[in-house]
Amino acid sequence: MTVSNDDELAGLKRIGRIVAETLEVMGRAIEPGMTTRDLDGVGRAFLEAAGARSAPETVYGFPGATCISVNEEIAHGIPGDRRIGPGDLVNIDVSAEKDGYFADTGASFAVPPVTRRVERLCKDGRRAMWAGLRQVGAGKPLSGIGRAVGTFAGKNGYTLVRNLASHGVGLSLHEEPTEIATWPDPSERRIMTEGMVLTVEPFLSLGADFAEDGGDPWTLYSRPRALTVQYEHTVVATRNGPLILTMAGA
Ligand code: CO
Ligand code: CO
Repeated sequence: MTVSNDDELAGLKRIGRIVAETLEVMGRAIEPGMTTRDLDGVGRAFLEAAGARSAPETVYGFPGATCISVNEEIAHGIPGDRRIGPGDLVNIDVSAEKDGYFADTGASFAVPPVTRRVERLCKDGRRAMWAGLRQVGAGKPLSGIGRAVGTFAGKNGYTLVRNLASHGVGLSLHEEPTEIATWPDPSERRIMTEGMVLTVEPFLSLGADFAEDGGDPWTLYSRPRALTVQYEHTVVATRNGPLILTMAGA
């Protein structure tokens, strides 16, 4: 959507803060031995208490309140019987709606004991996201996001998953502009307009270039199999640059 007044911005900020706090609460709740269904329950309870509805569940019929993807799973993992173990890499993606407004956020969490390699991957996943976010602003090219993330990944020896794009959001979970590359895309010609609401969510990996289907209709796996992280914020393109909506406590 394009934000055109303060009421719309206030609505987006409300749901942005709710999804950010849900993600934070879930991240803190991760314990070895718990199932991903248990962890999803923590998120569902928080969303319900805040008067928000899970977006993947209401928009797409996803079987869970949040997407939880472990290790070889990199996105859209279904909460279920899988038990989180020591050393696992757990991605949580939270998107939800309240009062007609949608926001979307995500992060990867390393369960102790954490190797140096995974610690660095997580830290750099956040840096890759921020490299993209810094390119957001009214009048700037959408291609700047993928170019900046690509430069960061290349310099630091990572690969990027090239078929999971960022997207417009706000009045639905996925809307125009769709398919915003977080990798260099020479064919991208669109310009960010003032008030445009979008996500920035690069998938930084120790070797994967693609996400592929597996045994169920939802879960996506790294190809080739390699540890992959995703960090995501919802942001408004303003004349003064990026206005991040999905900050906890903001
Ligand atoms: Co998301
Ligand atoms: Co998203």
